[in-house]
Amino acid sequence: MSKKIYQFEYQKYKNPSELSQEVQNLIEESKKAAEKAYAPYSKFRVGAAILLENGEILKGSNQENASYPVGVCAERTLLSFAHANYPEFKKVKLAVSVLDTDKDVSPCGLCRQTLLEYEALQSQPIEIFLHNQSGSVIVLPSAASLLPLHFNNEMLS
Ligand code: THU
Repeated sequence: MSKKIYQFEYQKYKNPSELSQEVQNLIEESKKAAEKAYAPYSKFRVGAAILLENGEILKGSNQENASYPVGVCAERTLLSFAHANYPEFKKVKLAVSVLDTDKDVSPCGLCRQTLLEYEALQSQPIEIFLHNQSGSVIVLPSAASLLPLHFNNEMLS
C-alpha cells in the first residue's frame, strides 16, 4: 500500500481591485455575461468570460431548459463557443461570476472535465477566477488542480 496526498494552493481576494487591470476587466465582462443568463428555473445567474491569447474576450452564461437536465452551465456554453470559433487561440484566463449569492461558487464536475480537455489540448494551464456578489475572488492555478485523479484521453486506447 502506498499513501498519496493531493494538495493545491489557491488565493482568495476580498475584491477584484486587488488583482491586475486585465483580470478586473475579465471579471467585469463575466458579470455582464451573467446579466444575460437564461436561468428562469434556478434563478441562479452565472456568467463566464475567457481571455484568448490574441487578447479577445468571449462571454457566455448559463442556459436553462424546461426539461431541466438539458440546461448548460455558463462555463460549458462559453467553452464550446470559444473552441468552435477560435480553436487556434489558447484560452489563457477564465472568469466566472455569480450574481445571486455571496457564497463561494466553484465549477461543477462536468465543467471541470470540459475545462480539463481544453487545457490539456493546449498544454497550458487556464487560470481561473471565481467571483461572487460579495466581490470576493478565488484564484485557481489551472483546471487540472480542480480535478485530481481525472480521466483523460491518454487512458483511451
Ligand atoms: N451553473 C453554472 O452555470 N455554472 C456553475 O459553475 C455552477 C452552476 C448553473 C447551472 C444552472 O443553470 C444553475 O447554475 C443552477 O445550478
